Amino acid sequence: MFGGNDFMNAFRLRWNQALGRETFASPPAPVTLREQLTHFGLKKQSARSVATRGPAAAPATPSGTICASAAENDRIANWRCVAFMLAASTAVEKHAKSRHNCPTDAPVRPYFIQTSSPDSCDPAVDLRAGISSPEARIPAWYLYDEIGSRLFDVITVLPDYYPTRTEAAIFARHLPEMAKVTDLENGSLIDLGAGSCDKAPGLFPFVKPRQYVPVDISVEHLRATVTRLQREHQDVEMIGVGTDFSNNLVIPGQVRTERRLFFYPGSSIGNFTPSEANSFLQQVRSQMRKDGALWIGIDLVKDHTTLERAYDDVLGVTAAFNLNMLLNVNRIAGTNFEPAHWQHRALFNADDSRIEMLLEAKAKTVVRWPDGERSFSAGERIHTENSYKYTPDSFRALLEQAGLRTIGMWTDERQWFAFFAAVLA
Ligand SMILES: C[S@@+](CC[C@H](N)C(=O)[O-])C[C@H]1O[C@@H](n2cnc3c(N)ncnc32)[C@H](O)[C@@H]1O
Repeated sequence: MFGGNDFMNAFRLRWNQALGRETFASPPAPVTLREQLTHFGLKKQSARSVATRGPAAAPATPSGTICASAAENDRIANWRCVAFMLAASTAVEKHAKSRHNCPTDAPVRPYFIQTSSPDSCDPAVDLRAGISSPEARIPAWYLYDEIGSRLFDVITVLPDYYPTRTEAAIFARHLPEMAKVTDLENGSLIDLGAGSCDKAPGLFPFVKPRQYVPVDISVEHLRATVTRLQREHQDVEMIGVGTDFSNNLVIPGQVRTERRLFFYPGSSIGNFTPSEANSFLQQVRSQMRKDGALWIGIDLVKDHTTLERAYDDVLGVTAAFNLNMLLNVNRIAGTNFEPAHWQHRALFNADDSRIEMLLEAKAKTVVRWPDGERSFSAGERIHTENSYKYTPDSFRALLEQAGLRTIGMWTDERQWFAFFAAVLA
C-alpha cells in the first residue's frame, strides 16, 4: 500500500515529467497519441469510457487516500484536466477517422515541404526578449505545438466555443453559392493555418481542387494530418507546407499559380493586429492572380459575456491550451516556466475590439534561462494572444485597404460570424 507521502512522491515525479522538466534535458519525441499518453504515465481511454466514467484517472491511488495541501490538490486537478483532454482528443481523432472512413494501408504519400522565412530571427532570442520586456508577451503561434494543436481541436467542439459551429452552419447553408461566386474548379486550394485540415475536405465536392495545399506552423501535426488526408482523397494532389507565415507568406513553386483559392477560416486573421492583418492580406494578394480568390472567416463583435466565455470555457480546456504554451516556450527558449504558478485569463478589450488571452502569475515568481531571468510580481501578466472582432463594414474596409474587393459575404442568423469572398481590386 502507498502511504500519502509515497503517493505524493510518485505523483511529484510524474507531474515533473508532465511539466517537461525531464524532457527538457533529453527530450523524447512522443509522436503518436499512445506514446504521448505513455509519456504522461497514462493509459489510453476509449471515448465510451470518457463519456460514462468521466476524465481519465490521475496516477493511481492504491491507498485511495490523498493527504495533499491545497496547492497539491490544485496540481492534481490540473493533472486530471490534462488527462481528460488527451483522452478527449482521442475521442475527437476516432470520430474524425470514422467520419472519413479512413483506409490505413493505402500507398499514396503527400508531398511535404518545410520552409523557414528568410528574415526569421532565432526564436529563442525573440522569445526571451518578449518575456523580458516590461509588458511581457509571447507570440500566439507558440500555442501550437503537438499538444496545443490537439487541445485546439478539443476547443472547437466545446459548447462555449461558438465560432467553429457557427462557421460550419454558414458553410452548410451557403457553400454551393460561395463556390458559384468564385468559380475556381480545378485550381489550388491553399488552406492557411490548416491545423487538423478538418474544414477543407468539406469544400472539395464544391471547389473540386486539383491541388490541396495546407499550410501550418505546427509541422508534425500537419505532416500526420496531410498523410492521412492524402489516403482518403487520392485524386487530389496534396502539398503540405510547414512554415511560419507571420512575417512572410511563402508559397512554394510546386503550387500552381493558376486559379488559386486561399482559404483562411476560423477567424485566425483576428490573431493579427489590424495593421499586421493588412500586411498579411497584402502578401496573400501578391501570391494571387486575377483568376484567384480569398475565402476568409471573421468573428463579429457581440456581447462581452459570450465572447469571454468562448475563450475561458467552463471545462478549462482553453486554460490548458494557454498554459501548455509555457511548456513549448521552455523547450524552445530554455526557460523554466512552471505552469502551476500561472493562471489563464481571457478579457474583452472594448477599446481595441479584441479578446486578450493572458497568463497571470499566481504569486511572485522568477523565470530563468541560461543567461538571464525575469521576475514577475503576483498578478503580473504575459500577453499570449489577441483575437480581434470586426463588424462586416470594418472588415470589408480592411480588405479594401489591402487591395482586395469583396464579391460576397455570408453570415448566420445571429450575425455572430461572417465569411467573405474577395478578389483582386
Ligand atoms: C485558430 S487555429 C485554426 C485552425 C483551423 N484552420 C480552423 O479554422 O479550425 C490557427 C491555426 O493557424 C496555425 N498558425 C498560427 N500561427 C501561424 C503562423 N504564424 N504560421 C503558420 N501557421 C500558423 C496554428 O498552428 C493553427 O493550426
